[in-house]
Amino acid sequence: MTFRIDHRPRRNRQTASIRSMVRETRLHPSDFILPLFLVDGQKKQIPIESMPDCFRLSSDLVVKECQEAYQLGIPAVALFPSLPDSLKDRVASESTNPDGLLQRTICQIKGKVPEITIITDVAMDPYSIDGHDGLVQDGEILNDETLEILIRMAVSQAEAGVDIVAPSDMMDGRVGAIRQGLDQHGYTRVGILAYSAKYASAFYGPFRDALNSEPRSGDKKTYQMDPANRREAVREILMDVDQGADMVMVKPAIIYLDVIAEIKARVNLPVVAYNVSGEYAMIKAANKLGWLDGEAAMVEMLTAIKRSGADIILTYFAKEMAELC
Ligand code: PBG
Repeated sequence: MTFRIDHRPRRNRQTASIRSMVRETRLHPSDFILPLFLVDGQKKQIPIESMPDCFRLSSDLVVKECQEAYQLGIPAVALFPSLPDSLKDRVASESTNPDGLLQRTICQIKGKVPEITIITDVAMDPYSIDGHDGLVQDGEILNDETLEILIRMAVSQAEAGVDIVAPSDMMDGRVGAIRQGLDQHGYTRVGILAYSAKYASAFYGPFRDALNSEPRSGDKKTYQMDPANRREAVREILMDVDQGADMVMVKPAIIYLDVIAEIKARVNLPVVAYNVSGEYAMIKAANKLGWLDGEAAMVEMLTAIKRSGADIILTYFAKEMAELC
């Protein structure tokens, strides 16, 4: 049989060199933000069971990680402090301690690796004995009272030298409130990366293991978004743009690629995607079991996130991927 086939897309796939020429999406180390978990002490590297190859690190080792990351071409780190329950309370007092773990670590990184961009979460949960991102009163998460705490937290992080604060709590009005608070204290240079479309996701489980920050009662559905909603994500993002965000984020990433694509089309700010702990753990676990090729799955997943429209990807794979780029 002879066929007349006018179009043969396979011609552009026949060799590695042609494929590399026609490739539409390329990953680069500068696409990534590396998240790091902090713990008090020296020379401490505490494994996180549900996140293979990730550790809670003492500040000396965090500084080393920052040096390595920067040498690999990764421009930024996101810091998450892991605190003992003894330092947690209902109002997140420890979050504004100028000598707190986070503040000290920011100073140390700035002293040793001044070029790297430091991003910090602004949310109560690592500091809250309730494990919630807001003030809890009779089971209710208070909004405006929480904003006061968030502003103080952001200002404290700015005083310690952070470059970008990242409100991750989904309280209404937080981006505008934090912008105003930072500006009033003279921190106009500190940027805001807004966790604008953050869903109430089951994929944060390993992260909560890492920080022991699981809500002690209830869930986060009255503030984090319903996974069923996409138009609401656009609304949240546009509000944060209006309130002065410098970058916006969609979180999680791989099962929300439609949201990332839509946001990319709607706003002119850089779009960040958070490739969350559960997305990381799934691949690491399946790789460990020999059920898939973890490295290939990682490359494919990160490529898909970028292809969908993400300009920047916050991922626990940052160093592993940057080494392959
Ligand atoms: C805190 C915060 C969470 C994550 C980032 N910042 C957890 C949560 O909202 O419960 C999750 C990140 C991940 O799963 O990798 N507000």
